[in-house]
Amino acid sequence: MTAELDPNTIVYFRGKYVPLREAQVGILTHALHYGTGVFEGIRGYWDDGEHQVFLVRPREHYQRWKRNCGILHIDVPASAEELTAITADLVRRNAFHTDIYVRPLAWKCAERIGVSTDDRDAFALVAVPFGEYLHSDTGLHAGVSTWRRIEDNAIPARAKICGAYVNSALASDDARRAGFDEAILLNENGQVAEGATCNLFMVRKGDLITPPVTENVLEGITRDSVMELAVRVMGLKVVERPIDRSELYICEELFLTGTAVGIAPVVRVDHRAVYDGAIGATTREVRRLYFEATRGHLRAYRKWVFPAFPAATPREQQEPETNAVSLAEMSVR
Ligand SMILES: Cc1ncc(COP(=O)(O)O)c(C=O)c1O
Repeated sequence: MTAELDPNTIVYFRGKYVPLREAQVGILTHALHYGTGVFEGIRGYWDDGEHQVFLVRPREHYQRWKRNCGILHIDVPASAEELTAITADLVRRNAFHTDIYVRPLAWKCAERIGVSTDDRDAFALVAVPFGEYLHSDTGLHAGVSTWRRIEDNAIPARAKICGAYVNSALASDDARRAGFDEAILLNENGQVAEGATCNLFMVRKGDLITPPVTENVLEGITRDSVMELAVRVMGLKVVERPIDRSELYICEELFLTGTAVGIAPVVRVDHRAVYDGAIGATTREVRRLYFEATRGHLRAYRKWVFPAFPAATPREQQEPETNAVSLAEMSVR
């Protein structure tokens, strides 16, 4: 849970920069009744050394958002580059010198009764100061939820569709009431899908294993970053395959990934210790690399971060792709 935002915070709302207190929607708004909106979540991390807020993979987030809006026939009339520029502008206008979270939201904005949609769409971008979402430094206790992950043919889980988050809210609320830090949802086949707001990885026999994107999971950008770092930097094998519930109880390591949660180690599941109940070496290293990459410290992954303030240090976006990342390439400092 995060604190309420200062009502004077500048947000981008329906084509204008306005104070948050003026960014209001009417009570009959279609999306409010029927969940017909699509949101996104983007991190910005403050780096003291460079006096900079680095937006993490904003273009990929905005590309995903625009594609997923298409599922609901919502048009966002701005390119991923334009949206990234507006986001950086919000950081500057609000003079955020801290870690932030950006919440883009596009929605069906007609104000009338009736579930059928029309072409009236709107979008807004809100940036908020944001620290840790889950306090995961010592490892989380996750519980397998009795709620099942929504099916692609009901509401696609791969898109951040507002209405679909009732599924996450039910699971997350139950988990917290039962004393867990986070819920893990199974799909209708009884196999592991993901956390309420995050993807899931386990380590077995040294390999990193995660459910494929066809198991009713969100196609996470952090998931993608972790897979890239694991294969190209750590030299691990990453396997996308269905995961049985009971594998969570016998695996060597378990962690959750997401824009809000970052890389969150899980040390207990359903009151059972994951391995010896301590955070494993692979999880620690993935976490460290992700931290460094998203603060702009890894030269090879400088392309993942976008500076919100005029850059003191030029970005190295144009770096050629390489197949392997050597340790010599890793550090900017
Ligand atoms: C259900 C769900 N799964 C996974 C994720 C992680 O996705 P990403 O890494 O793109 O933030 C999220 C993020 O909000 C989510 O809501």
